Amino acid sequence: MAEHYIGLMSGTSVDAIDAALVRFDPRPSVVAARSFPLARDLRARLRAITDQTPLGIAAQLDVELGRLFAAAALELLRDAGLPPAAVRAIGSHGQTIWHAPASEPPYTLQIGDPNVIAERTGITTVADFRRRDLAAGGQGAPLVPAFHREVFGSPAETRCVLNLGGIANITVISEDAVLGFDTGPANTLLDSWIASQRGDAYDAAGAWAASGQCSPDLLEALLADPYFALPAPKSTGPEHFSRAWLREHLAAFPGLAAEDVQATLVELTARTVAAAVRQYAAGAAKLLVCGGGVHNRLLMARLTALLAPMEVASTASAGIDPDFVEACAFAWLARQRLAERPGNVPTATGARAPVVRGGVYSGKV
Ligand SMILES: Nc1ncnc2c1ncn2[C@@H]1O[C@H](COP(=O)(O)OP(=O)(O)O)[C@@H](O)[C@H]1O
Ligand SMILES: [Mg+2]
Repeated sequence: MAEHYIGLMSGTSVDAIDAALVRFDPRPSVVAARSFPLARDLRARLRAITDQTPLGIAAQLDVELGRLFAAAALELLRDAGLPPAAVRAIGSHGQTIWHAPASEPPYTLQIGDPNVIAERTGITTVADFRRRDLAAGGQGAPLVPAFHREVFGSPAETRCVLNLGGIANITVISEDAVLGFDTGPANTLLDSWIASQRGDAYDAAGAWAASGQCSPDLLEALLADPYFALPAPKSTGPEHFSRAWLREHLAAFPGLAAEDVQATLVELTARTVAAAVRQYAAGAAKLLVCGGGVHNRLLMARLTALLAPMEVASTASAGIDPDFVEACAFAWLARQRLAERPGNVPTATGARAPVVRGGVYSGKV
């Protein structure tokens, strides 16, 4: 019998809560989906979190976000005309406020209290998807390769999926293995730079970047970051590719026009993604792209040029709206959790073994 799940996601771009109502029959299809933009003030407070932030502030944000996630789920159900009782469970990734898989001990922290979500919606909620994998020696991320394999994999050919969120990550699905890792920064630096220079939340369609020129010298300096040369599996976040990281590099290029910096950042993402795809997915015929970066025309054009003759296309061409692939993945991960099936791919996260990931917070009893 078909079952409904809701997936909730707020990524490293801290732009919006993406919510998807997914029907499993047993293959997933999106019944309804919506992005709920985060208020400017909340976005700023989340982005201001550092390792010096008082615990009380983080703990309050945990509850505040839990309420917003719950409201998003309820509103989505209103859109779809479905009662909460028709939903088997919610899978909520939460908002990552810190991800440090390489420190000792390794740790990762997502907020958006699942107790609040379960209480306010009455729907069983699965959350805290990363930490079990970390405990099993993995990076805790990327979380979506198992889902990508399920919906985009093909026994006939190697497929490659690229998610252009705050950070860019790829999944390579071949006959005998699934690889997945973060290639480096995507929207996090693009958003941060345009916000600091023009006050815009993001560079719509990449138009501002397209008005500038890539600086080969700055690009070379950025590409020298050791993360890019690390072997996969690996994961990173805006803690590393931060505003401070960019400012340090820019100090050597005082005369550079602001739009040239934006153009160089687009090129940085395109080059590092293309290098990773060539190294790990050389046999793939097609690159399927999802995440908000799919709307950045300059970035998509550069990827297409750098990877030719490989076809570069939105996941819409494979049946899933590129803005909701990740939210769908959390609906799927919740379903895996309730069935006690693994949700990680050890070759993607580096974990010792497959693990059942996520904690379960019961809904109405
Ligand atoms: N029309 C657009 N043009 C260019 N970039 C866009 C557009 N729409 C969204 N984006 C980018 O996508 C980001 C959100 O992508 P998303 O997949 O939600 O990332 P995350 O998972 O990190 O939250 C925005 O912050 C913005 O940088
Ligand atoms: Mg987002």
